[in-house]
Amino acid sequence: TTAKLIAPSLLAADFANLQRDIELVNTSEADWFHIDIMDGVFVPNISFGMPVLKAITQHTKKVNDVHLMITNPDQYIHTFAALGANNLTVHYEACPHLHRTVQAIKGAGMKAGVALNPHTPVHLLEDIIADLDIVLIMSVNPGFGGQSFIENTYRKVSTLKEMILTKNAKTLIEIDGGVSTANGKKLTDAGADVLVAGSFVFNSTDPIATIKDLKSAIAH
Ligand code: DX5
Ligand code: ZN
Repeated sequence: TTAKLIAPSLLAADFANLQRDIELVNTSEADWFHIDIMDGVFVPNISFGMPVLKAITQHTKKVNDVHLMITNPDQYIHTFAALGANNLTVHYEACPHLHRTVQAIKGAGMKAGVALNPHTPVHLLEDIIADLDIVLIMSVNPGFGGQSFIENTYRKVSTLKEMILTKNAKTLIEIDGGVSTANGKKLTDAGADVLVAGSFVFNSTDPIATIKDLKSAIAH
């Protein structure tokens, strides 16, 4: 089995002290930076855009895992590559020509991810799974940090894991929303590879220790 990864979400960082919070993740046991881009159309919230992403990636020393919660992501794929995204995840629900979008992401030199809203069944990825580097299962409705974890997620992870094994794919399963030490182990046991954690990390008194706790909670 491959190593399980932790991706703190900068959405929960202190935006007035962003560099400080980025350095904190740099020195921690975290594996990826999870960076949420929201457009106020696909989701009912706006996070931050290109100039802020550019400032962020100038300081991050780990994989930049960019989660796009935007409509029409195709028009920005090359922009996000130039801004330092290593992984680019688009929403299934925002992409009518998903296969083309995924090929464009890979063509721009990034790992391609597809995110599923809580109501979107994993079986819809059956004909594209072999092309995907990452599937991000939303375990809350996208748009906000600090929401509570949707329990149906475990079942989706197991079903997706089975599909990945059947298709002999190398796809990583990433979970986003309401992740903590209370559900992390159960998620990785079900087949999750990457856990995103926002408020659980940054609202704790010692984020570095919290990242360590999460990492050891899921260590096999
Ligand atoms: C929500 C974002 C998440 C968010 C998770 O739309 O995609 O990445 O930051 O935050 P928590 O871990 O607080 O649920
Ligand atoms: Zn996210």
